[in-house]
Amino acid sequence: MHIDKTLFTAEELAAKTAELGKLISEDYKDEEILMVCTLRGAIVFFADLIRQISSPCQIDFITASSYGDATISSGKLNIKKDLETNIEGKHIIIVEDIVDSGITLSALKKMLLARNPKSLKICAMLSKPSRRVCPVDIDYCGFEIPDEFVIGYGLDYAQNYRQLPYIGTLAED
Ligand code: IMP
Ligand code: MG
Repeated sequence: MHIDKTLFTAEELAAKTAELGKLISEDYKDEEILMVCTLRGAIVFFADLIRQISSPCQIDFITASSYGDATISSGKLNIKKDLETNIEGKHIIIVEDIVDSGITLSALKKMLLARNPKSLKICAMLSKPSRRVCPVDIDYCGFEIPDEFVIGYGLDYAQNYRQLPYIGTLAED
């Protein structure tokens, strides 16, 4: 595998993150939001995004996956680390790196809704609409991309490339 091309530069990602943070701040105003980071892929986007939100924020982390170390979905949701916050009555925004099949997010959304939050929205940096198996509404979406495997800005291939400041595509050697 090798990095094929840059899809979004660090500057483009920063501009989009600022735009999403502004939208969220305008929507929630002075209402407190619990920002939920889906580990591990969303951490880079999450850290940038929360610093662009002017509404009062709390943060928490969850590890939910439907992928192993391969690029093909296993189709199974696995909660390895749950939230530490009681979300009942709180405004929740789940922050995702990328929505692919939508299997992870739709199962996660269902699980968290059963805990009676005041509201629950989704913010994703990237979405691959052509890959969708489970429909999910993405309330705040960074970029829609074609069916290509991407890495960087938190996204991995077999746990590598997460530290890249840009998003690139990966190609077979
Ligand atoms: P879904 O359940 O198929 O929507 O899978 C979502 C998860 O799969 C994301 O949170 C990523 O961790 C991973 N994923 C999906 N597509 C890619 C990709 O192109 N690069 C890296 N990770 C991906
Ligand atoms: Mg991943």
